[in-house]
Amino acid sequence: MNNLAGKQSSGNSDSTPNKSGPRPERSPTSAPGVRAIVLVGFMGAGKTSVGKALGRRLGWPFEDLDDRIQARMGQTIEQIFQNRGESDFRRAETAALRELFNEPGPWPRVVALGGGAFVRSANTAVVKKAQAHTVFLGAGAQELFRRCQLEGVRRPLLRDLKQFRELYEQRRPYYLKAHLRIETSGKDVAAIAAEVACSLGIS
Ligand code: S3P
Repeated sequence: MNNLAGKQSSGNSDSTPNKSGPRPERSPTSAPGVRAIVLVGFMGAGKTSVGKALGRRLGWPFEDLDDRIQARMGQTIEQIFQNRGESDFRRAETAALRELFNEPGPWPRVVALGGGAFVRSANTAVVKKAQAHTVFLGAGAQELFRRCQLEGVRRPLLRDLKQFRELYEQRRPYYLKAHLRIETSGKDVAAIAAEVACSLGIS
């Protein structure tokens, strides 16, 4: 899979599908002073696909924060929203993020946040304290909506285009606080990963 519209819900055999994938096999690219690259952006931005490609490219482990939340709670994101509600999900998200950045290693890593994580000050404080490089993967709302529909991943906050666009507009100012903004429209996953690495001077 090399384009952003082609992401499928990846499945392990257990009930909590894992988006992070296997650890990289190559030796890590050194980037003194860089603890992590954190990918932020709305649903459909390609945070998971680009994060995996970037992790492979740099030889750094990739982690999707949603996977950690699912593992901690023993439920899928959809089940957490359904059974416990969004506020419990958000609490779990912050706890998972803190846990992740408190781990002793291995570092550096590539980390993908869920679309709502970077708009909460508790979370941005964790990322800031960790001195991670933050990257906003951007695209137009209609394009993001189209990708989400093609992906076949069930997202609790994905309803219709109007609601999707409004939520994106609300969140965009927060995403724009990332250190770097990369436009993803019309680019394939490998090219975006290369652009992130080169823009950060790590390649
Ligand atoms: C959410 C986005 C999802 C997931 C959860 C909430 C959001 O992640 O964290 O469904 O608030 O936008 P993706 O951005 O990877 O779809």
